[in-house]
Amino acid sequence: MNEILVLYYSQGGAVREMAQLIARGVQSVDGIKARIRTVPKVSANCEATESDIPSTGDPYVELQDLEECIGLALGSPTRFGNMAAPMKYFLDGTTALWLKGALTGKAAAVFTSSGSMHGGNETTLITMMLPLMHHGMIMVGLPYSEPALSATTSGGTPYGASHIGGAMDDKPISDDEKKLCIALGKRLAESALKLSRKL
Ligand SMILES: Cc1cc2nc3c(=O)[nH]c(=O)nc-3n(C[C@H](O)[C@H](O)[C@H](O)COP(=O)(O)O)c2cc1C
Repeated sequence: MNEILVLYYSQGGAVREMAQLIARGVQSVDGIKARIRTVPKVSANCEATESDIPSTGDPYVELQDLEECIGLALGSPTRFGNMAAPMKYFLDGTTALWLKGALTGKAAAVFTSSGSMHGGNETTLITMMLPLMHHGMIMVGLPYSEPALSATTSGGTPYGASHIGGAMDDKPISDDEKKLCIALGKRLAESALKLSRKL
């Protein structure tokens, strides 16, 4: 069975919920399923180690997951207009895959949750694309043929799915934001299937 890796980091749960919606979109396409993974936190204390298996939630990602899946949805909260350190730390450890071009030609999409509307969710999405493009991945965004992209009064961008959680992170994911998460997952799965077919 072809799989899409839905890889996220989430501290408060908003990006985790988006990951589940994106996985729902992926699985709406015949012949493909979602593999949901997360990354461990990083610590400034070099002696601190995280256990290999999280006590709750989704399993931690391994490099093998990236190799085995035909596409990738990458999600992170916005941190000062950029992705969170645990996701960047994980990506910085993917050199072995880069050296052998393991991700070249595979489809990828990005998603984020931010506190404020203009606090950098679009810059987070765009900067999350950069390491994926170094890996040779082909980015999939959201087209304006998705009615929710024009209707939304909160998150959702052409660059990927987003959610605006509010200053207290207490706003639920809106209907339009949900529709765009699902649409992104579906579009990613369809594109990944097309790209993975041998020419
Ligand atoms: C260190 C830190 C930096 C943040 N930087 C931003 C920011 O630049 N812009 C913004 O809108 N929200 C910012 N936030 C808020 C988070 O992006 C927001 O709470 C997000 O919804 C959390 O997602 P999660 O529930 O998946 O962890 C920041 C939060 C933290 C803890």
